[in-house]
Amino acid sequence: MATMLMSSSWIFALLPSLCSSADHDTFKDCSRVNFCKTLRNRSAQDKYTVDETGFTTDAPNGRVDMPLRVNDSSAFLNFSIFALTDNRFRIQVKEINSSRQELDHVLAGAPPVVGMHRFDVNTNFISISLGNNLFIIEFSPFTIVIFSNDVLQVILDGFNLEDSLDQAFAFAVSFPQALQLYGIHEHADSLTLQTTQVGGTDPYRLRNLDVSGYELNSPMALYGAVPVLYGHGPNGTAGIFLHNAAEQWVEITNDENPQAYIMVESGLLDLFILLGPTPTEVVRQYVSLTGTAHLPQLWALGYHQSRWNYDSQDDVKDVVANFTTYNFPLDVIWLDIEYTDGKKYFTWDSNMFSDPVEMQQNISATNKRLVTIIDPHIKVETGYSVYDGALEKDLFVKNADGSNFEGDCWPGLSSYMDFLNPEARDYYSSFYSYDNFPSTTPVLAGIWNDMNEPSVFDNSIEKTLPGDALHYGGVVHRDIHNIYGLLHTMSTHQGLMARDNGTKRPFVLTRSHFAGTQRYSAIWTGDNTADWGYLSVSYSQCLDANLLGIVFCGADIGGFANDPDVELLQRWYQAGVWLPFYRAHSTSGSMRREPYLFDEEVQQVIRNALQLRYKHLPVWYTLFYEHTRNKDPIIRPLFYHYPQDTDVYRISDHLLVGRDILVRAVAEAGVESVQVYFPGGAEEHWISIDNAEVYDGNGFVNISVTIDAIPVYYRRGSVIVRKETVRLSSDEMANDGYTLYVNLDAYNKATGTVYLDDNTSFNYVDNKEYNYLKIDMEGSDVTLTKVDEDANSNGFDFVIDHVVVNKVIKEPENGSFGRYEQKLYTKDTSQELLKNLKFTFDEPAKIKLT
Ligand code: GLC
Repeated sequence: MATMLMSSSWIFALLPSLCSSADHDTFKDCSRVNFCKTLRNRSAQDKYTVDETGFTTDAPNGRVDMPLRVNDSSAFLNFSIFALTDNRFRIQVKEINSSRQELDHVLAGAPPVVGMHRFDVNTNFISISLGNNLFIIEFSPFTIVIFSNDVLQVILDGFNLEDSLDQAFAFAVSFPQALQLYGIHEHADSLTLQTTQVGGTDPYRLRNLDVSGYELNSPMALYGAVPVLYGHGPNGTAGIFLHNAAEQWVEITNDENPQAYIMVESGLLDLFILLGPTPTEVVRQYVSLTGTAHLPQLWALGYHQSRWNYDSQDDVKDVVANFTTYNFPLDVIWLDIEYTDGKKYFTWDSNMFSDPVEMQQNISATNKRLVTIIDPHIKVETGYSVYDGALEKDLFVKNADGSNFEGDCWPGLSSYMDFLNPEARDYYSSFYSYDNFPSTTPVLAGIWNDMNEPSVFDNSIEKTLPGDALHYGGVVHRDIHNIYGLLHTMSTHQGLMARDNGTKRPFVLTRSHFAGTQRYSAIWTGDNTADWGYLSVSYSQCLDANLLGIVFCGADIGGFANDPDVELLQRWYQAGVWLPFYRAHSTSGSMRREPYLFDEEVQQVIRNALQLRYKHLPVWYTLFYEHTRNKDPIIRPLFYHYPQDTDVYRISDHLLVGRDILVRAVAEAGVESVQVYFPGGAEEHWISIDNAEVYDGNGFVNISVTIDAIPVYYRRGSVIVRKETVRLSSDEMANDGYTLYVNLDAYNKATGTVYLDDNTSFNYVDNKEYNYLKIDMEGSDVTLTKVDEDANSNGFDFVIDHVVVNKVIKEPENGSFGRYEQKLYTKDTSQELLKNLKFTFDEPAKIKLT
């Protein structure tokens, strides 16, 4: 039996956020949302024809405009097409003299247009050819069909800008080559989107809401919204991105002709069309619109320990000390809302945290760091400087009548910063400075932005700001609701940049998110529950986020609400190793569950999981760097690398870390074996990291498991770069040498990459100060080549301590697994060779294993 301590703060379990579970009285279904209810009845489709007489082109600048006649009336809309680089188009539909809100802050820059080469104007249609793409606009009914490489990839129709519904609009998209649809993050559902239909399941909803106690297998809205949809099948992948931050509902038809019908409350119909034709290309096409994440500081990839709440500075010190005593690696301890004085952010509770500076010194003495929570609601209290200043400068969100909006949240009556206002972002960001956030030091290394949907404790308005609340410039809240959290994180990111004079990469974690959040922040999946289904769905949620550019994603290890049993907790620690963000967190009132509180056997399982994470820190760091270069996800569903294999399309409890590590979460209780899918066909081989077995990529195999580990494999032909000696934090491992795991293929070759820099600053961007190496093994030669000739690798020596060569000695065949043998080359066994060899060079460096 595990030993657990009872928290003294159980009383907080009664607070509003937890009482209002995903109750369907508070959170509406489509039938209770007027525009959804009306538009879901699709009788209004085909209401436009193109009036080709008003057609204008600016072909060199990639633009075509044409009027759309509203059938049986003299009213017109304007329809514009822009041809973009990289197999992309953008279309916009709006009224002449439109008053629709055009979105800002989401795109990473102006999408680059390309000139259009060829046009054909016919009686019934216009066709535009661009590279291998053919874009056809049919006049009556108004339909857009897009071919790529002569294959029909996307059809857009059913446009309906419904004048009786103020600004609501709808349209349909189908992907004729797709077998599955993916995307429209965030839902607690399978990776593939499920059919929704009138009389059955509700459409998927995108409206950022504080749905604590959220349900599984549900299209209900959660904290984030990323309106990107991909259709994928063996003959191609295509996608769309609706650049619009208003509430949306998406009806999915998941049959042989997968289709989505998208209903939007307001704002502009501004749609990007991504023509792939592979998963890699479609993801890159999307991510280049909204940007990549910058590299995190290395410590952010380590293990984070959180809880609502560590109650006092002594509690914090005790937890940190116990991680050391019990030999668990840890990089960060987190403080939830109780550290503040009455939930006034940027203050401290002077009773329980009487000496925050001393506490931070204590944390840093063992090379750990601190992250604290800062929410966007501001307590209404004269004398609280954050409130007073915002009031004076007029920086709060307003009611429709122009008065400041006030609603309840953790502090009681609160006002909400209007982050749409640049002055509000500047003002709020200034509170992160060491002067304005008293008793903070560089040990406060990152910030947690929560409740930023934003959450308002009022069930009558779905626990968020009312749609008619007013922002800067008279913008109504409903038009920009889904970017409130994005704007909050922009301000926080700006504050941390300024605080550290631009010398450190900010770490921000946010609950609410939107397309583009990756530029400022990591995300987690909010208030999950200590239940097996939530462990499983954490893989779908973070894989989905990764496909949609938000790569730094994790889930509360162990589950936020309720208490996991020890089996679930161990399995969660093991699965969480392979999600980019690795943090344990639990609600107030749950039992304490720091790893050292359990029996020795349980501790050892968790310790092994944490150590496995730390051994792979170089893999994570390199993948994050590669994301900045090539926009690829960090973790990937199997179809990403095996797009032709239809059997993997629905698999979401497996993931690939980069291209070379295959992981299967064990999210089932009490099992002695699990089905593992090995992708890639007979030529692809997977090497177990726990025993000598090698599998070929021929599909499902039943694999025995014990509580000690979950199934993890390296791809044969890869070089995995690890750090073998795990210490108590990433800082303490920073100067250690590396170990290469060389997984030789049938031709005795293997390749990989590794990336090194100062782990902290933006010098890798500003001055190209880094060492990025390609590693090639052939026979017994290891060749290291600098990828960028002009990068300055001084000070970032690649020091190899060990090389582990995994060589297959019995090939897998006829359905049975093969075996491999491991040979270790160390300083001792290969004399001079690996004596802390440092690789800084201009020519490729060659070493020979003996
Ligand atoms: C919200 C967050 C949760 C946090 C709590 C108190 O419920 O999702 O992680 O612990 O608020 O701040």
